[in-house]
Amino acid sequence: MTNQTEHQIELLRFSTAGSVDDGKSTLIGRLLYDSKSIFEDQIEAVERASRDRGDGEVDLALVTDGLRAEREQKITIDVAYRYFATPKRKFIIADTPGHIQYTRNMVTGASTAELAIILIDARNGVLTQSKRHSFLAALLEIPHIVVAINKMDLVDYSQAVYEQIMADYNTFSRKLNVQGVTYIPLSALRGDNVVDKGDNMPWYDGPTLLHHLENVNVGASLNNVDFRYPVQYVIRPNQNFRGYAGQVASGRVAVGEEVLIFPSGLPSKVASIVTAVGEQKQANVGDAVVLTLEDEIDISRGDMLVRKRNLPQKSNRVDATLCWMSAEPLKPQGSYWVQHTTRLVKGFVAELNYKIDVDTMHREAADTLVLNEIGRVQLTTTQPLYYDRYQINRTTGSFILIDPATNNTVAAGMIRGQSRDLDDLLAGEVDVVAARPKSRDVVWEQEGISLADRESRNGHKAAILWFTGLSGSGKSTIAKKLEQRLFAEGIRTMFLDGDNLRHGLNGDLGFSSADRQENIRRAAEVARLAYAHGHIVLASFISPFAADRRFARGLVGNGRFLEIYVKCDLDVVKRRDTKGLYAKALAGEIDDFTGVSSPYEEPENAELVVETDIQNVDEIVDQILEELVTCGILEEKD
Ligand code: ADX
Repeated sequence: MTNQTEHQIELLRFSTAGSVDDGKSTLIGRLLYDSKSIFEDQIEAVERASRDRGDGEVDLALVTDGLRAEREQKITIDVAYRYFATPKRKFIIADTPGHIQYTRNMVTGASTAELAIILIDARNGVLTQSKRHSFLAALLEIPHIVVAINKMDLVDYSQAVYEQIMADYNTFSRKLNVQGVTYIPLSALRGDNVVDKGDNMPWYDGPTLLHHLENVNVGASLNNVDFRYPVQYVIRPNQNFRGYAGQVASGRVAVGEEVLIFPSGLPSKVASIVTAVGEQKQANVGDAVVLTLEDEIDISRGDMLVRKRNLPQKSNRVDATLCWMSAEPLKPQGSYWVQHTTRLVKGFVAELNYKIDVDTMHREAADTLVLNEIGRVQLTTTQPLYYDRYQINRTTGSFILIDPATNNTVAAGMIRGQSRDLDDLLAGEVDVVAARPKSRDVVWEQEGISLADRESRNGHKAAILWFTGLSGSGKSTIAKKLEQRLFAEGIRTMFLDGDNLRHGLNGDLGFSSADRQENIRRAAEVARLAYAHGHIVLASFISPFAADRRFARGLVGNGRFLEIYVKCDLDVVKRRDTKGLYAKALAGEIDDFTGVSSPYEEPENAELVVETDIQNVDEIVDQILEELVTCGILEEKD
């Protein structure tokens, strides 16, 4: 491991968000003060200032910098970055204000954060503000969320209050599909559970905030796999040296490895990796280096080096979530600069599909986006972007828009995938492209009735709900219950079940990886046909391999495939063993049994995760129904 990587692992970037009165400054102050992370003279100054003000307590809010403006205006002005370190780790806090400018600030401050602290005042519980912050944290794919329930001293350190807030937040956050939420009851003012445990909450046996910050797994959102190296500068001090400076956006590369250069597509090999402290054999994600190549190729700023068998997507139409950050509203069809990694291209918002009401999370039709609004757009660029979805790569999956007249950054965007023409999609055209017949002599018989017509008669959209999870996790139970509910509402449904299909259509298949792949391929194709006829398909298959699920997803349009991960602890399903198969598998009587002798690849970007060892079936069914409304497949009931 290189020094640089070690350095990265030691560093945790986190963001704080809370409203003015939640005690954010006090919390940060307490963190710095109790962990002795501020300099002695600063401590003295704070103690002196506090004495001068005549109150007995040290005013921790004075510790935080940028304090004067905040205290005068009673609001935090902008994102403030603060640095502190303990012997275990270094920290960068992006402190985002809680007032109405929150979207812009949070997007700016939190876009590289690995953890977000959502501050909740114990007296007030989960307010709209906390929900907004969580929504943004989820949107930005921040892997860890800490719900810090502050001011516990003002509710008599009540465990019941803490538990109620935890339950409320949990109900809400499930809709966001955020994972990894840690709840910590604390009093920033009195210091309980910030750095030291204190004696006031003996019922809480979790970590203190600092302990959690020091130990949480960093690098969870780093993509170590897909090598992407956007070239920042070409360095050419003399005729003999030609190097490409940049930061490894993701993945890693070593001397001698073959790379491809985009957009030219030309191949070469890495000749050397130069850093400020000398040459090294390998460069990892986050490393700022200079690469030299074996071949003389014309490369310029904005080009990207990748690996031959691991290419980014290429498109000049992408589907994106856009956070508008300017006082000037979005001009649909208006020209903007699109800064994507180190590349600058011209582009425009060809379509604004909807905006999201951050408070209710409902979608609304919109003609434009104004400051702090978030929308779903189709962005067209004059030259293709080489990108990955934001979910798998926060660097190559994001971009900003710049107003060419003022040079101001007006929006930040997260790429969801390649844009598909909505009309084509509704007409089923895209499906034709995705399906490749073996024989060239077959043509696609266009359905006489378009999907749009079917959907408008049905009164709901078509979709595939793909339930994946271990055998016995409860996929089919949930799907059946859900189907009954949908059926009662007059919705056209179809239930496809692994066991059932294996009785007929897939009766020739076993459980090797290849057979499972074929099983899912056929199942997905059947699901697609029903989808094209306007149905909501409930497909219940272990589908243990991410690649197979990806295939199924690719058969239908964006937003029409909902992967629902039916999560259940392996020990629990083994214990339940409803079909008695785990016992047999463990006894060696069944080969390739998922979870025992064959792997299950957990979904990384499922639309929904439900946990059958925690939630009951009705609760889960309600949750899925809500999701169907949120994503516009079902209409909201009055
Ligand atoms: S998948 O892996 O190809 O998606 P599918 O969902 O169709 O599997 O079928 C899984 C069902 O087949 C299980 O619920 C179980 O009843 C049965 N089964 C029999 N043998 C196996 C096995 N080796 N692994 C998993 N499930 C098995």
